[in-house]
Amino acid sequence: MTTSDHFAEQRRKLANDFHRPTYHFTSPSNWMNDPNGVIQWGGKYHLFYQYNPNGAFWGTMHWGHAVSDDLIRWVDLPIALAPTPDSPDESGCFSGCAVNNGGVPTIIYTGTRGEHNEQQTQCVAISHDGLLTWEKYPNNPVLSEIPIEAGSTHDFRDPFVWREGDTWYMLLASRIVGVGGTVFLYQSVDLLHWDYMHPLLTGSRDKNGDVWECPNLFALDNKWVLIVSGKGRSVPPTVFYFIGEYADHRFKVEVEGVLDYGCFYAPLTMIDNQQRRLLFGWLVERRSVEAQKTAGWAGAHSLPRVLSLRDGRLNMEPAPELNRLRGELSDFTNIPLSYTNKVVNVQGAALDVIAEFEASGVVGLVLACAPDGSEQTRISYDPEGQQLLVTRGQSGSSDGVDLSPNMATHVLFPNESLQLRILLDGSIVEIIANGRTSLCSRIYPTHAASQGIRVFGHGTLKRLSIWQMCAISQE
Ligand code: FRU
Repeated sequence: MTTSDHFAEQRRKLANDFHRPTYHFTSPSNWMNDPNGVIQWGGKYHLFYQYNPNGAFWGTMHWGHAVSDDLIRWVDLPIALAPTPDSPDESGCFSGCAVNNGGVPTIIYTGTRGEHNEQQTQCVAISHDGLLTWEKYPNNPVLSEIPIEAGSTHDFRDPFVWREGDTWYMLLASRIVGVGGTVFLYQSVDLLHWDYMHPLLTGSRDKNGDVWECPNLFALDNKWVLIVSGKGRSVPPTVFYFIGEYADHRFKVEVEGVLDYGCFYAPLTMIDNQQRRLLFGWLVERRSVEAQKTAGWAGAHSLPRVLSLRDGRLNMEPAPELNRLRGELSDFTNIPLSYTNKVVNVQGAALDVIAEFEASGVVGLVLACAPDGSEQTRISYDPEGQQLLVTRGQSGSSDGVDLSPNMATHVLFPNESLQLRILLDGSIVEIIANGRTSLCSRIYPTHAASQGIRVFGHGTLKRLSIWQMCAISQE
């Protein structure tokens, strides 16, 4: 069986699982997490991802690989990186990035050793056949020493590399013990010899987590943006962004924010040939490891989002290529709302929804609703409390599933109406409010028939557009 037949077979076996997304990217089966090495090459988009081919649980990290002509439909390619016994990545090939080094596709990633992946060093691999197979640099690791100011830690990973003139720069995510997550800045002329410069930014432990992961730094609309994923004792895994000035290799923060208030984590960005800064994130499961193993798959990616700055804040919109998957449209305008649920005569488990509310009180929608209402997921906005809420108490089975609410602070400008973009896809709910507040959630309805939609609230639903979304399946 060829690799592609094998992956197709795995996808076919899982195709009837209605929790599995149909238009978001997921691995053929088993476990996946962070996007890695996203890059455009020869006109195609390449997506790599943290992948465990041995089961639907985290472990023995490999780099899965998929390719796309249009950013939306992905074709599975063979695994790009696998741990090599008795080498710096013998326990795992952790996250990293891909760059074009004078025409040579080059991956810079973190190799791990030890039972708990406690030896984290930076490694390089190159491809001679257009990104299909990868040859690891024989003198890996290219960097293994953690800067002394980190203190006693093994967290030292997720290289993000870019070029300025003739010099390569790299950020590595780590921590300064007792202080907070940090990103260390390095420079190199050849991607193989790295000189440490200084910490570019260190967060506060209580606010941004004890440790940072998966950094990104890039210019955007005349400013610079740093994105990190932070977690720790007092901070659940959260993606933070910092906007500011980057000059003389120092970063001065002017604005900071939370990139997503739900299950979106470890994003990676790339710039494409339309000069768009695209963001891909991991949508973490919200059910038990046992439930994931039973399902045979875990993890998915967000739709790629185009980043921009508006009013000094980070904005994101799903890449417009997504619109090509839109099928039948149901369009409504000026629906007067009453507090009780009003049934909308549309059903679906794979939907792209745009809802625009004029809210005089709490407003919202109910999705994934059973015909008798016994199962449902409620998305609401309270203009007074400036809060976006996803209520999951009735979303589905409580067995090993997180039913706690998701909450985001969302402030509307004076006279601004509430705009919700909702991408529902099986167990995935991606919500972006007014292009700037992101809240991704996971739900696990127990009935395939829980596909109804209702609207409610105080005010007017000025616009409701619901598209049925076509699947991106490869079979
Ligand atoms: C983030 C992360 C990275 C690491 C990878 C391992 O989710 O913990 O820091 O490289 O996942 O799978």
